[in-house]
Amino acid sequence: MKTEILIMDENNINQKEIEKAGSIIKQGGLVAFPTETVYGLGGDALNPKSSAKIYEAKGRPSDNPLIIHISNIEALPAIVQSVPEEIYRLAEAFWPGPLTIIFKKSDLVPKETTGGLDTVAVRMPAHETALALIEAAGGYIAAPSANVSGRPSPTLAKHVVEDMNGRIDMILDGGAVGIGLESTIIDMTSCTPMILRPGYITQDMLFKVLGSVEIDETILSMNSKVFPKAPGMKYKHYAPKGELTIVSGEMKHVIAEINERLMQKKAAGEKTGVIVTEETKDLYDADVVKSVGKRRDEEMIARQLYKVLREFDDENVTWIYSEAFYDMQMSKAVMNRLLKAAGHRVIEV
Ligand code: TXA
Ligand code: MG
Repeated sequence: MKTEILIMDENNINQKEIEKAGSIIKQGGLVAFPTETVYGLGGDALNPKSSAKIYEAKGRPSDNPLIIHISNIEALPAIVQSVPEEIYRLAEAFWPGPLTIIFKKSDLVPKETTGGLDTVAVRMPAHETALALIEAAGGYIAAPSANVSGRPSPTLAKHVVEDMNGRIDMILDGGAVGIGLESTIIDMTSCTPMILRPGYITQDMLFKVLGSVEIDETILSMNSKVFPKAPGMKYKHYAPKGELTIVSGEMKHVIAEINERLMQKKAAGEKTGVIVTEETKDLYDADVVKSVGKRRDEEMIARQLYKVLREFDDENVTWIYSEAFYDMQMSKAVMNRLLKAAGHRVIEV
């Protein structure tokens, strides 16, 4: 299959091209598109065949449910069983934006889209191209991140091309995404609202709107044997090809420990890399040193993380160490992705 790539300008959306992309989705095809979080791989959410195609293109297990993307709140009631008042408060505060909400699904939503579950994940992205595409495609786009299953989510169109070229009909290239980590997922079907995946919208922000919200603590567990509640969170994910280990503790000890290990790995003929910050980047003796930004600039760190993980693959790095990230609003989101990329390998110093 030939994949058509169209450049999209957020400030001047080409409606003709959007219509073309929308009709591909309506006819059961797949179009990758930018959102504010990561690139999505879109198909018609109400067409079971489209969902099957998405799983195939990603090489994703079909028990891993997809998120349905909508472009306005009026589209919500048709795909869920009910919309309680607090949902409107959440939507008012965070939609369009990087929050995915889990509901009980209506009969309109095929089980193929929800990985066999009776619940459905819904989000309204804050991105003009995405919103225009959803409209043009009939209102409901099922879209996982547009990466091959197991690889880091795409934050540039180039990443989508790497993973999806020849597998899907079209890629809309909207440049670099804004946030760089997938949306926060909140389950509103449990007694107390529960965060299943941390993201840009934090527990504190949700608490202010809802008054009570828990977080599925297994998602930050160092133990890879405990299974999180969101089906997709249990898979090895976001992982570079090289073996990644996080080193956590007081910074001077972290630097010493990483350098010691780098020396051993180099002696063994490995190509080494580190994921570090601007403040420390000159202190490591690795073959490839990648800074994700200044320690205080958490938005930059989130935006850079997946790009950096992919770059190690491009440079064939076989052994990677990363500093840990704490004390930021988004620490939970960043550490959750990093822990998964590292297969939960952490050295405490
Ligand atoms: O930011 C995002 O959310 C991006 C962009 C493209 O919108 N999408 C994304 O989709 O990250 P995906 O498929 O890569 O991740 C969806 C996650 C998976 O962990 C999946 O298991 C979980 O959402 N999920 C989907 N439906 C669910 C449901 N009904 N119950 C529990 N978890 C669900
Ligand atoms: Mg994903």
